[in-house]
Amino acid sequence: MEGLESSSVILTGDRPTGPLHLGHFVGSLQNRVRLQHQCQQYIMIADMQALTDYFDRPKHVVQNVAEVVKDYIAVGIDPEKTTIFIQSQIPELCELTMLLLNLVTTARLQRYPTIKNEIQLRAFGESIPAGFLCYPVSQAADITLFRATHVPAGEDQAPMIEQTNELVRRFHYTYQTDCLREVELLLSKTPRLIGIDGNAKASKSLGNAIFLSDSEKVVHDKVFSMYTDPEHIRASDPGKVEGNVVFAYLDAFYPDPEEVESWKASYRKGGLGDMVLKTRLNDTLQALLKPIREKRATIQQAEALEIACAGSQKMRSIAQATMEEVRQAVGIVYR
Ligand code: TRP
Repeated sequence: MEGLESSSVILTGDRPTGPLHLGHFVGSLQNRVRLQHQCQQYIMIADMQALTDYFDRPKHVVQNVAEVVKDYIAVGIDPEKTTIFIQSQIPELCELTMLLLNLVTTARLQRYPTIKNEIQLRAFGESIPAGFLCYPVSQAADITLFRATHVPAGEDQAPMIEQTNELVRRFHYTYQTDCLREVELLLSKTPRLIGIDGNAKASKSLGNAIFLSDSEKVVHDKVFSMYTDPEHIRASDPGKVEGNVVFAYLDAFYPDPEEVESWKASYRKGGLGDMVLKTRLNDTLQALLKPIREKRATIQQAEALEIACAGSQKMRSIAQATMEEVRQAVGIVYR
């Protein structure tokens, strides 16, 4: 990928709020499988960040850590190449977060796009939980503590990178140091996958996603329940391709895009039925998911946790080395 060298360090992460789904697969997992061959890659399971939303349901977060590890391994992320680790197991992240919090104002955090949206969406008003408000700072610590050079993400994540670099520059200026590293967005052009109900985004919370761990039957039932074109009643009727979930998924997963284009043409003209299309999509997804499901079934819970704990231990030594320098820079060294 453009801009990457073998000395680059990639950091990405997911909140363990549920098992991963096809949206993650096209949006990031495939990319990570490729990137692990090009340079150092770290993947963080952001349980502490998940707790900013799920603080009253910690069990849910904790249980999903192993599920997410299983999903990673099942899609081909190789723990020999990629270090998978757990955010809460790196106490230095909290230490760096505390120091960075002094360098940002609450006004700035409230203007941070994702935070701003959520404040409105969840009608927080004046009662914004401080942990939630500050998660972009904790995220900046995630990125800088491990000296990442690149964070792969969509354009919508650009503010996260900007905020991180702002904090890095602020830290360097305030303490006359250069011990942290600015980071670059590694722009992934993968489109966001829409939900099976036609909602703009496939997500666990909306219950409109196909999970990598779904059984064959569940995948089948989800495909056949997909939202198509409500006006397309008989196969012979002309149908709409835009907003049609089956086509969105065929675009994302069917290996031959030209064939999909020819199906779109006949669907528009009339004469191609939803059932035929759904059968093709089901076959495509079953073929993709079968080996993932089979691989997943071979990974024990204990084994998954062992991988993440070993990874955390490795990441902790990097964290400790950076924190040594950070404490030196700030001057909080007493012996
Ligand atoms: N915010 C990411 C998510 O919602 C998880 C995450 C936490 C992350 N820290 C990160 C991603 C640092 C990239 C870099 O899934």
